[in-house]
Amino acid sequence: MRISPVGKAGKDLCGMTGSARGPAAGDKTWTVLELLKWTTDYFSRSGIDSARLDAELLLAHALETERLRLYIDYEKPVLPEERDRYRALVQRRARERVPVSQLLGVREFWSLTFEVTRDVLTPRPETETLVEFALSKAVAVAQDSDSVSPFRILDVGTGSGAIALSLASELPLAQITATDLSKPALQIAAANADRLHTRERLRLLEGDLFQPVASERFDLIVSNPPYVARADIGSCPPELSHEPEMALFAGQDGLEVIRRLVAEAGDHLSPGGWLGIELSPEQTERVEEELVQAGFVDVERRFDLASRPRVVGARWPMK
Ligand SMILES: C[S@@+](CC[C@H](N)C(=O)[O-])C[C@H]1O[C@@H](n2cnc3c(N)ncnc32)[C@H](O)[C@@H]1O
Repeated sequence: MRISPVGKAGKDLCGMTGSARGPAAGDKTWTVLELLKWTTDYFSRSGIDSARLDAELLLAHALETERLRLYIDYEKPVLPEERDRYRALVQRRARERVPVSQLLGVREFWSLTFEVTRDVLTPRPETETLVEFALSKAVAVAQDSDSVSPFRILDVGTGSGAIALSLASELPLAQITATDLSKPALQIAAANADRLHTRERLRLLEGDLFQPVASERFDLIVSNPPYVARADIGSCPPELSHEPEMALFAGQDGLEVIRRLVAEAGDHLSPGGWLGIELSPEQTERVEEELVQAGFVDVERRFDLASRPRVVGARWPMK
């Protein structure tokens, strides 16, 4: 999850200048390319960074086609009813700043398609760093161990199920448990598990952090917990207001949930098991210190595609 400050503060997000001459006008025939150009300009003026990409994704959705197909169909006229569908999406994106993922109802993560609603955090590309960390540790622990019992993974705060289900797709023999405090989020995770044909391999439990797995231990625990500081709320992009607060904010410094995770994780790890936590880069050193104080060893960092520390991992000692 990357939370970047609003880049274009002061822009009029509702500035629909030109809309009367845009796709709203009823008589003109618009081609695919004309619509894309108009919308890209409109989105840019509305302060949306990924203007062209968003325009393409929404138009492809309205036309019920693939995004790349638009390039072949540049000169094709768009039918009035298709344009009406598109205009409704464009307005919600620009005026209400609804994330594209929620307008489409899906988001790609780890090359899998996840259903996304207002009840879950939209999976972010940087969270794939945590999936990579988990896979590398699953292989390492399995190689070190002579146990024949299945590899046990716990995903705390599973949301859409992005991490747990990506791991399920890669580790067919692993036993995966995922928890969340939010019942609606767990319903989305279950729907995603059905959609990805992994429902029978995923145990979904409702409750606070480790409470639903009180007496259990795991070989690997992963979590992308809420980690935005309440103090930073004013610099969050407007799109965040469409995502659940419970998925984003964790006290004044953003560390309220991570601190509890670190303090309690040792009681749920088997000897030599690993913990991996996604965080905001500036929280890295604080969390590394907390891990050492809690008794963890072999603390390490993993970096996202922007080369920023994004995951901190640590091992529970063998004895
Ligand atoms: C940042 S979202 C991560 C969602 C998903 N794992 C992902 O990476 O896209 C954090 C999730 O943790 C859940 N959560 C927040 N506080 C929690 C708690 N105390 N116990 C369990 N889950 C919690 C939220 O409901 C939300 O689904």
